[in-house]
Amino acid sequence: MTTSRSLVDNLPQPIAVVTESGGVDYKNGAFDETFGTDAIQWLKEAARAVAGERGWLHGFFVEGDDLQTIDVEIEGRVYRVDRILRVTEDDVPKVALSFEDVTREREAEQAKSDFTAQIVHDLRGPLSGIQGTLEFILSADTKLDTMYADLLQEAQRESERMMNLINEILDFSKIKSGNFIVEQEPVRVAGVLKRAVRSLQQVAARDEVFLISAHGRDVPQIIGSVEKLTQAVINLISNSLKFTPQKGLVSVGAQIERKGDAPEAIVITVTDSGMGIKADELQSIFEKYKQSGTKSLRGGAGTGLGLYIVKQVVEAHGGEVSVASVEGVGTSMVLRLPVRRAA
Ligand SMILES: Nc1ncnc2c1ncn2[C@@H]1O[C@H](COP(=O)(O)OP(=O)(O)OP(=O)(O)O)[C@@H](O)[C@H]1O
Ligand SMILES: [Mg+2]
Repeated sequence: MTTSRSLVDNLPQPIAVVTESGGVDYKNGAFDETFGTDAIQWLKEAARAVAGERGWLHGFFVEGDDLQTIDVEIEGRVYRVDRILRVTEDDVPKVALSFEDVTREREAEQAKSDFTAQIVHDLRGPLSGIQGTLEFILSADTKLDTMYADLLQEAQRESERMMNLINEILDFSKIKSGNFIVEQEPVRVAGVLKRAVRSLQQVAARDEVFLISAHGRDVPQIIGSVEKLTQAVINLISNSLKFTPQKGLVSVGAQIERKGDAPEAIVITVTDSGMGIKADELQSIFEKYKQSGTKSLRGGAGTGLGLYIVKQVVEAHGGEVSVASVEGVGTSMVLRLPVRRAA
C-alpha cells in the first residue's frame, strides 16, 4: 500500500481523491504543483449543488450513471477529468480523479473546424455567382437551342446540389464547434412547408413522384429560424424523393397539438410510399455519416449528414424528431416543434 501510494505520489499526472462535497482526501505532488491552493476554490465550485444546478463533480458520484470522463474548464485551461476509482470509506463515497490538460488539443480542434467553416463559407460566394449567371441565361428572352437549354438546366441542378452540400457541411461544422445559433424570428410554418415543397416540385416531377402538401389554414407561428427549418424540411422531402419509386407519393403535412384552446406544438410530417428503412437501422439514421444499407433509387450518393442536421435544427428549436417506417411500405418522418409564446 505504501509503495503504491508513493508511486501515485510521484506520478506526473495530477491525481486527487475527493468527496462529494469537494473535500480533498488525498492529492499527489503533481496535483499540488498544477493547482496549488486554488484547488480548494474550484473544487467547491465543482461540488456546488444549488436547486437543480449542480457542479460537474456531482456526475462522478451518481450511482449507476456512468460518468467516467468529462472536459472541464479550470482557471482558463481545459482539463480532461477521468474517474479512475470509486470507493466508499466509513460510509463516505469518494472518487479518485486524474487530470489531463487538453487545452492545446481543444484549440487545435477549434482552429481546424473554424478553418473548414471558413473555406466552406467562401465557396458559397462564387457558387452563387454561377447560379445567378445560369438563372439569368435561362430566364432571358433569348431563344436557346434546346440542347443548350437542357445542358444549362443540368448545370443548374448540379450547382443546386453542390450548394446544398456546402450548406450541410457548413451547418455541420458549426454544430461541431458549438457555434450553431438559431435565429429567434417569428416563423410561419405554413410558409416554410410551402417553400420547401416548391423548391423540390421540379425534382419530383422529373422523378415522376407525386409531391403534395396538406395542412389546415391556421397553422400558428413559432419562434426560430425560417432558413434552417426550411432546409430541414427540404432534407426530409429530398430523402423521401430519393427513396420512393415512380408513381409513388410524398406528402407533407402539419398538425396542431392543443392543450385546451392554446396550440402547444406543431407536428410536421413528411410521409412517403417508398422503400422504407429496416427496423434495426431506424435507431442510427439520425447519427452523422450514417446511411442505411438501403440503396437510393436514384444516383447522387449523399453524405449521411442530412438527418443529423435535421435533428440538431429541431432540437435547437426545443423540438424532437421521430421516425416510423415499414420496409417496402414507406416512411414517415415527424418533427414536433413546441409553440413558444414570444416573451
Ligand atoms: N424517406 C426515407 N426512406 C428510406 N430511407 C431513408 C429515408 N430517409 C432517410 N433514409 C435512410 O437514412 C439514411 C440517412 O439519411 P440522411 O439524410 O442523413 O443521409 P443521406 O440522404 O444519405 O445523405 P445527405 O442527406 O447527407 O445527402 C439514408 O442514407 C437512408 O438510408
Ligand atoms: Mg438526406
